[in-house]
Amino acid sequence: MDEREKKVEEISRQMSQNASFAGFDHAWRVTQIALDIGRHEGADLEVLKIAGLLHDIGVPVDKPRHYEIGAFLARGILKELGYDSDFADRVARVIETHSRYGGPEPDSLEGKILQDADAVEYVGAIGLARGIVRAMEAGRYHGDVNQVPDLIDDLISQVSGKLHTERARELLQERIDFLKSFKKRIQEELDGKK
Ligand SMILES: [Fe+2]
Ligand SMILES: [Fe+2]
Repeated sequence: MDEREKKVEEISRQMSQNASFAGFDHAWRVTQIALDIGRHEGADLEVLKIAGLLHDIGVPVDKPRHYEIGAFLARGILKELGYDSDFADRVARVIETHSRYGGPEPDSLEGKILQDADAVEYVGAIGLARGIVRAMEAGRYHGDVNQVPDLIDDLISQVSGKLHTERARELLQERIDFLKSFKKRIQEELDGKK
């Protein structure tokens, strides 16, 4: 990792301090997943790495439009760090198009991969733990374990059928298989069979 990348990582860490669900740990995991997909899909890994680290820096500023403000902030940060403006523009566009809940559709391979990586990160063991906390904070879950199988189904349905790349579909399937086996186990315990 070069000096500028280290600075990008540091800035991402600082800017996401107050974003519980889009903190640096989320950005870091999304970046690792994006790089995995990117290697399989032949994408520009440098663009992916920087866009992954910065993709949610707009969340603490304006969550509903974080993709737009994030793109704007990222462009400024990268120019300040000496990245050329073409690279900064490409990263900014990838950030602008990453959200599944708003903004333009991804129009580059790297944009599609970042959106896919964000979706894959949403499920899995950490995704489930975060999903439960999120449902509690939203007042949809009050601690009754009988609701957990439905929460798992919700989580799966929010990402199913929404991916752009083959590698992401493979990664997602592995995580969905894990969630389904967890759901089966919890149901067995609820039924007194385990
Ligand atoms: Fe986001
Ligand atoms: Fe994200």
